[in-house]
Amino acid sequence: MRGKTIILGITGGIAAYKGAALCSKLVQAGFDVHVIMTEGACKFITPLTLQTLSRNPVYTDTFDERDPSVVSHIDLADKADLILVAPATANTIAKMAAGIADDMLTTTLLAATCRIVVAPAMNVHMYDHPAVVRNLNVLAERSVMFIEPETGQLACGYVAKGRLAEPETIVAAVADILAEDERKPLLGKKVLVTAGGTVERLDPVRYLTNDSSGKMGFALAEAARDFGAEVTVIAARTSASPPNGVAVVRVESAQDMLDAVMERFDSSDLIVKAAAVADYRPVVRASSKIKKSGDRLMLELEKTTDILQTLGERKTKQYLIGFAAETGDLDHYAMDKLQRKHCDMLAANDVSEEGAGFNKDTNIIRLYDKSGLIEALPIMSKRDASRRMLTIAAQRMADREGKEAGR
Ligand code: CTP
Repeated sequence: MRGKTIILGITGGIAAYKGAALCSKLVQAGFDVHVIMTEGACKFITPLTLQTLSRNPVYTDTFDERDPSVVSHIDLADKADLILVAPATANTIAKMAAGIADDMLTTTLLAATCRIVVAPAMNVHMYDHPAVVRNLNVLAERSVMFIEPETGQLACGYVAKGRLAEPETIVAAVADILAEDERKPLLGKKVLVTAGGTVERLDPVRYLTNDSSGKMGFALAEAARDFGAEVTVIAARTSASPPNGVAVVRVESAQDMLDAVMERFDSSDLIVKAAAVADYRPVVRASSKIKKSGDRLMLELEKTTDILQTLGERKTKQYLIGFAAETGDLDHYAMDKLQRKHCDMLAANDVSEEGAGFNKDTNIIRLYDKSGLIEALPIMSKRDASRRMLTIAAQRMADREGKEAGR
């Protein structure tokens, strides 16, 4: 990591004292570290400590311009490879979400175009507060990355989630993010991701759908974009917002999704079928609203085309990843789907497990290939799980290309 510049923003929570160890470890890892402290942070730890450890001046005041040849917050933002806010208080997170720039740190953050990583630390009830949850989601949609707080003894007396991740964990995560961003393992590749739940209409006002939010598909699209790919998302009904920098094609039914995917399949290198596609659709779609009649109404449904299976049968050079959302017997169903649908990789999760499944920000994924389980990922954000999945896929695609080139 020599030659990489990190801005370390320390905000005013008790975990600010850990900012010293964090700064020291970042310097030891070879980063050029420039520290910005909020007023609150200075109540817990002194700028002199951070200046000594970082061997650079510490910034605390937007208007304390020491070098007349530059504007400090712009200069810092421009030279940063990554800005790390650790610990990040609920207050700074809220300011970041709202775009408020009332101190040196938040002003620099607004001027930054580099990657931003936030390590929150606060009381568990604050962390779970809907306002904080909303703000974290707003930042996630803007591609801010998070190093989740750990569970343990909190300074306020609770034993719960909210403790700043250990400095070693934060340094390792930052190094990984920069290394992967730099390698761009999917550079030059065309990636097609499907997301959300399909909608099968009964009449102009009613439809059959499912609980998919689109979060997993969008997280995969974002990770593929960060890895250098040209990304298209075929999105059915979603409640989450798509990431910036990817092409989004909106569809409604399984048939629309099939058409949109087939149109782009031949020119794609990697396809991830994260959408929850209806297996059945109404045989008849009424052209006007179905009126209430007898005590019972029978709906007749017919099978939709299995998009993944169709792709699996047609694929040539494409790397195909399928999903399986199950409520038990994961290994068995995953391997069955992988083989039946000719996938190169299958990501399975048990949607009945706490922390996994529809409309959550986290997932617990098991990855398979034709020889069995590749990796059982622990509970992690959908974004981190996506990065891990695509790292493995990119590696396997490169190995395959290498073998073909060597033939
Ligand atoms: N899938 C698809 N087209 C369908 C149904 C499913 O492309 N008509 C894809 C999904 O996008 C997912 C994978 O197939 O990647 C597995 O979906 P799932 O609903 O779990 O599979 P099914 O074969 O429908 O099995 P189940 O009996 O469990 O519903």
